[in-house]
Amino acid sequence: MAAKRILSGIKPTGRPHLGNYFGMMRPAIEWQDRGEAYYFIADYHALTSVQDPKLLQEYSRGVALDFLACGLDPAKAVLFRQSDVPQVTELTWVLTSLTPMPMLENCHAYKDYLAKRKGDDEPAMHGLFAYPVLMAADILLYDSDIVPVGRDQKQHVEVTRDLAGAFNRTFGRATKDRAGDNSAGQILRIPEASIMEEGASIPGLDGQKMSKSYNNTIGLFEEEKALKKKIMGIVTDSTPVEAPKDPTNSAIVNLYRLFASPEEVQRMEEAFRAGGCGYGEFKKQLFATIWEYFAPMRARRAELDKDPGEVERVLQDGARRAGEVAAQTIARVRAAVGLGPERKSQ
Ligand code: TRP
Repeated sequence: MAAKRILSGIKPTGRPHLGNYFGMMRPAIEWQDRGEAYYFIADYHALTSVQDPKLLQEYSRGVALDFLACGLDPAKAVLFRQSDVPQVTELTWVLTSLTPMPMLENCHAYKDYLAKRKGDDEPAMHGLFAYPVLMAADILLYDSDIVPVGRDQKQHVEVTRDLAGAFNRTFGRATKDRAGDNSAGQILRIPEASIMEEGASIPGLDGQKMSKSYNNTIGLFEEEKALKKKIMGIVTDSTPVEAPKDPTNSAIVNLYRLFASPEEVQRMEEAFRAGGCGYGEFKKQLFATIWEYFAPMRARRAELDKDPGEVERVLQDGARRAGEVAAQTIARVRAAVGLGPERKSQ
């Protein structure tokens, strides 16, 4: 059996933060040893929120740089920019022709937008509405088997499975897919989500889920002073220094847990309960631990950044490798639906 193909994407809407790291980047780096991994910077997806061309390019490069600094190995995984393989937009269009509107109306991101907007003068953009179809195309274009994503993306993988199924039923003939499996007329491979539970529970500075939209993030590669300032600003209650403190639901403890050993966490929890130590002390400890954790990655990032062409070379090489897979899928899809000139045999 062919190696499993793993695919995931990250939107370049800012500089990566701890939520991105634990939710997507670190698991993706772990998966690179377990199959053929394809990871991309979802710049088409980012267009719904980043509408400054310089910034989009800067964020895209920044995400790639951070990913490489954190251990993504281009010899193992294919790292590319979504828009460098523009066939994904073609597959998106073909899929839209099989996508029922209610299916998209039911998607969380769109529903949340409608619920949160202030009035009808803030209409949802079509790009936001159709976002899951582009995501389905990302996944299906590369014959993906496994899609490691956070819990919030699970629904999108389900949409992908539904669309692939509908496509295969509608157009399925004896078209062979990558593994030569044509038993079910499988033109598009049906993927599975692998949900990264941990990602869902990364607390932000205010204790809510860490998210760019809540403005409560901690960046992966903040300057030392800026990082310290952020950590010291984590919201706590006003329990006085001497009094015992409750470690459950503490953003300090929950963040510390991501970096420290179980014994270290236990020690901090005991110190919370014992009293006599203020939140400021615990925050300092958290800062030191985070700073140390990212030290080797910071060094690697500085090293990579010395050669400004390096990241771009990795992305170009990734685009070439991804493009080879994409070309095959698109050829299969075009033949299956009847786009382009008539073919004698398939
Ligand atoms: N929608 C994902 C997010 O916001 C990013 C993404 C785009 C993605 N295309 C994808 C993830 C394909 C996995 C597979 O996090």
